[in-house]
Amino acid sequence: MTTKEIFENNRAWVKDKLTLDQNYFKDLSKGQNPEVLYIGCSDSRVTAEELMGAKPGEAFVHRNIANMVSNLDLSSMSVINYAVVYLNVKHIVVCGHYYCGGVKAAMDSADLGILNPWLRNIRDVYRIHKKELAAITDEEAKYKRLVELNVQEQCINVLKTAEVQHAYRTRGISVHGWVFDIHSGKLIDLKIGFEKIIENIAEIYRID
Ligand code: CO
Repeated sequence: MTTKEIFENNRAWVKDKLTLDQNYFKDLSKGQNPEVLYIGCSDSRVTAEELMGAKPGEAFVHRNIANMVSNLDLSSMSVINYAVVYLNVKHIVVCGHYYCGGVKAAMDSADLGILNPWLRNIRDVYRIHKKELAAITDEEAKYKRLVELNVQEQCINVLKTAEVQHAYRTRGISVHGWVFDIHSGKLIDLKIGFEKIIENIAEIYRID
């Protein structure tokens, strides 16, 4: 895809939208009121809006390598803060995907420079769940399970934040862990049971 093509596509898209609704962009410019915060992987095959069927204005989106919610990452922490406190989203989704290159890299020992500290967070997920993962002999099954466990741990990182805990207590925000299966195109709900997780981590992570 050339940049020239991108601008041609854009012109065609504007034309299509205005044919259906003359006020489309005028209405969009009035503001946003998304109900979903989607945190996903930057992988070019894993779109956010397209796989959810979300239109502009319906999902607040944050993407990075391997859909991480790292405690020291100012970008994801700011996105969560803004989405929860100012946009009042009702749902926060962490969406991973099978065959995630970031997760694969964290299972290997290659030195990847600046990616090392980023991927170390996934190695931490592996360490936390080492017993379960070590029992899986099939490499592909182990890889897929690490993708799922990484989503689960990133959901826990979401639940550790003061904003989310406050929103949960005052207005009932919910947190979801999903995996996009590239092979089938289907979204899988991991049913992480965030209410139980909040209870379990409260002793250590509760912030009033
Ligand atoms: Co990925």
